[in-house]
Amino acid sequence: MSWSRKDLLDIQSLEPEELTTVLDTAQAFKAVGQRAIKKVPALRGKTVINLFIEPSTRTRISFELAAQRLSADVINFTAEASSLKKGETLKDTARNLEALNADFIIIRHSAAGAPHFLARVLEVHVVNAGDGAHEHPTQALLDVFTMREKKGRLAGLKVTILGDILYSRVARSNVWALRKLGAEVTLCGPPTLVPPAFARMGCRLTHNLTEAIADADIINLLRIQHERQRKSMFPGLAEYTRLFGIDRARLALAKPDALVMHPGPINRGVEIDSDVADGDRSVILEQVTNGLAVRMAVLFLINGGKAPPPAPPATPAPDAP
Ligand code: NCD
Repeated sequence: MSWSRKDLLDIQSLEPEELTTVLDTAQAFKAVGQRAIKKVPALRGKTVINLFIEPSTRTRISFELAAQRLSADVINFTAEASSLKKGETLKDTARNLEALNADFIIIRHSAAGAPHFLARVLEVHVVNAGDGAHEHPTQALLDVFTMREKKGRLAGLKVTILGDILYSRVARSNVWALRKLGAEVTLCGPPTLVPPAFARMGCRLTHNLTEAIADADIINLLRIQHERQRKSMFPGLAEYTRLFGIDRARLALAKPDALVMHPGPINRGVEIDSDVADGDRSVILEQVTNGLAVRMAVLFLINGGKAPPPAPPATPAPDAP
């Protein structure tokens, strides 16, 4: 199946077949990443602008590297050093980037809906790299890619997402993707952070950690997103860790083959203990590796590429390292 969308704005509006197309294409790109020459010419001559108005380590570098591996030119826009600080609107900033003939704008913004707004007013391809507490589609795609790779299937897989669900765009995008692909999702955390509305998306909700992890194939942990919480949502971090933190003893309550995931950044000693983060059941760094392949697939498909992608040239391209 080919991809016919101009943008990637969210998971909610995607069909299950579109999700599978991205996953299959990413699988081919992962193989490219393991070759001596990791670059393919698919986006040669195209310009990708990373418009990150919120902090990011993994996602920004991953998109930058993905664009470079596809031979695009990449510009990183830093909000602190830009005219956004001089009162320019997001729309005007983005229009100026378009006037420079950018082909893709990858946007991260604290306002939910900012990527959808840009996609309406601009001709360029827009990719959502996280908008407020709304969605983070490429994170969900790399998460389900990792689950499918590790467990061989998504249909019927039991996935528990644990932590700050209310403020998490990662949780929202994961729930959409997992439900569309037939996985069973349990959400767990303090009652203030696990909104009942998620039950309408077909999730099981619980505030009991033991119950949440007992039959899980995947335990996906989330950071407490203090920067988005308007007031304290639970008595204190120590209590959160005592009730919901995952350490080795807690992990022993899960199935022996249950895997631990986390989108990062991890807060060691809060939602995850170092023993677990660095242990053999953790696939946290593999998620990062897979994120690169998934983002290459997204840029490739939006650019009109057909899955699976072409093999890289047998000899290094003139501009390859
Ligand atoms: C997440 C984000 O920014 O949405 N991180 C990420 O992109 N890997 C999660 C978070 O900030 O906790």
